[in-house]
This record gives sequence, C-alpha cells and structure tokens, in this order.
Amino acid sequence: MLQVTVMSVMPSDDIRLLDPYSLLAALGKKVIRPGGRGSSEAIFRLADFQPAQQVLDIGCGVGTTAIQIASRFGCQVTAVDIDNRMIGFAESNIHKAGVTEKISLQQGDILALPYADSVFDVVTIEAVSMFIRDQQAAIREAVRVCKPGGYVFDHEFVWVRTPPADLRLEFDNIVCSGMSFETEHEWRDLFLYSGQHDIQVIPIPFDLLTFRGMLRDEGLSGTISFLARTLSRQAYISRMLWLIRVLNKVAPYLSSVVIACKKKDGGTNSFQSSHQF
Ligand SMILES: C[S@@+](CC[C@H](N)C(=O)[O-])C[C@H]1O[C@@H](n2cnc3c(N)ncnc32)[C@H](O)[C@@H]1O
Repeated sequence: MLQVTVMSVMPSDDIRLLDPYSLLAALGKKVIRPGGRGSSEAIFRLADFQPAQQVLDIGCGVGTTAIQIASRFGCQVTAVDIDNRMIGFAESNIHKAGVTEKISLQQGDILALPYADSVFDVVTIEAVSMFIRDQQAAIREAVRVCKPGGYVFDHEFVWVRTPPADLRLEFDNIVCSGMSFETEHEWRDLFLYSGQHDIQVIPIPFDLLTFRGMLRDEGLSGTISFLARTLSRQAYISRMLWLIRVLNKVAPYLSSVVIACKKKDGGTNSFQSSHQF
C-alpha cells in the first residue's frame, strides 16, 4: 500500500485553485461522478461481479467504488489514480473500510497502465476519460488490460443539448480545465474504434450536487459533515458557491451515461444496443 500524506490544512489560495473533484474530495465527499451512486449501481448490476474476480478501477479518486466492489462482492481490486492527493484520500478510506487486503492502490496513468494485456475480468472507469486529451488511446488502454470476454465500464458526462458557446467554454476550460466530451455517440464510437462492438449505453441522470443526490450518495451524516466542512472556511464556501452557480447554469444541457463494453472473445454479442450506427 502506498504511503501518501493528505494535507489537512490547505492554504486558502490553494483552495481557490482546486478543480471541482479535488474540492469535493477535500470536503470529504465520497462520490464524485456525474451520476452519483446510481452510475456505480448500474455498473454493479451489469458486471455481475463474482468473488475472487480481478477488477481494475481506473481514476479511483477517493476509493469509494473500489471499496464497494471489494466489500460487497469480494473481488480483488486494483485501484489506480494519477493524483497523489486522491491516492492519499483513497488510502485513508480503504483503511477505514477495513478492506486493505482486498485492494491494491497504485499511482498510474490511464494512458500507460502498468499491467500486462488481458489480466482483469472487469475494468471500471468513472468520470475519468473526459479529462484525457487522447481519449481514444485511453479507451484502447483500458480494453487492452481487460480479459477477452470481460467487461469495461465507462461512466462519463454527455451533452444532451448544445449549450451556448460561452457556457461551454466556461465549463470545459474553467470549471474543469482540459475536460472534453460530446454526446453518448462519441463515447460509443471510442469503443468501436478500439475494435469492440458489443456495447450498451445506459443513461444516468446528472444530480451530483442536488440535495436529493447528496442525501442518496453521502447519507444524512455524510451530508451534514460535508456542509459543516464547507462552512468551516470562507475559501471553501466561495469555491462551492462558484461551482454550484456554474453547474446550475449548465445542468439543463448535461446528462451522463454508463458505457458497457464486453471485450471481444470471438463469441457473439450479448448486449442489445440502444442505438443504431
Ligand atoms: C471526477 S474524479 C472521479 C473519481 C472516481 N472515479 C469517482 O467516480 O468518484 C476523476 C479522477 O480521475 C483521475 N485522473 C485524471 N486523469 C487521470 C489519468 N490520466 N489517469 C488516471 N487517473 C486520472 C483524477 O485524479 C480523479 O481522481
């Protein structure tokens, strides 16, 4: 297990520069993806995890999904993230959940995963590929490490209506610098380009920061702790108000999906596609 120290008192200037997911992680939020726990539950239903399966969670953030897969389904999970701060949060959460022997936590980049071909039964990616410049290479890499007949699940934002150009610019370049995504067709295409055809797209509502979404994802005590932590510093309050303001403006144009892809093993497709290409 990596040893990473999480800074407990962050200077206000650093808080003002935090990207949204680092901010939410610093405030103790456990679920940091557009569809909240709903997206993970969709993945769990489709994956039909079996004990002792090898699972890779790419861009694991604070470790919530890896912990669920290990504790609920008994799988052996490798959780990887590029960001040391996230690894630190994940390490602490995995320890608290008592599943250290079930989860191997590693620093790594989705574009260059340090694993051989075809080693994982299931690969999960939640709200990660949208931050990657070469998304085709990212998906190819995730598919590479998955066993033939195994599954790759990718949960990402999608535009459901074209937003005004200035709003889109603000969202892509200021809210999450370098973020980029289009429609569910674009995500599906990335899997098609990687040579996969057995693909299902499941729509998941975007309600990460609604009160209902907070309660569902963090529970009552988690929501109260999150609010208390936010209110504890002016820099947190300002940054959260800024984030909520932008997300409220952009929410009518946004939704999210889970893309489920069964890696080719020479057999026939098992998913019924929801759209024709
Ligand atoms: C929006 S957060 C999602 C975290 C987690 N998957 C979840 O759903 O709660 C995006 C995560 O992707 C990680 N990330 C960004 N670029 C990455 C890369 N190139 N390779 C691996 N992880 C990356 C970030 O550090 C962050 O933890």
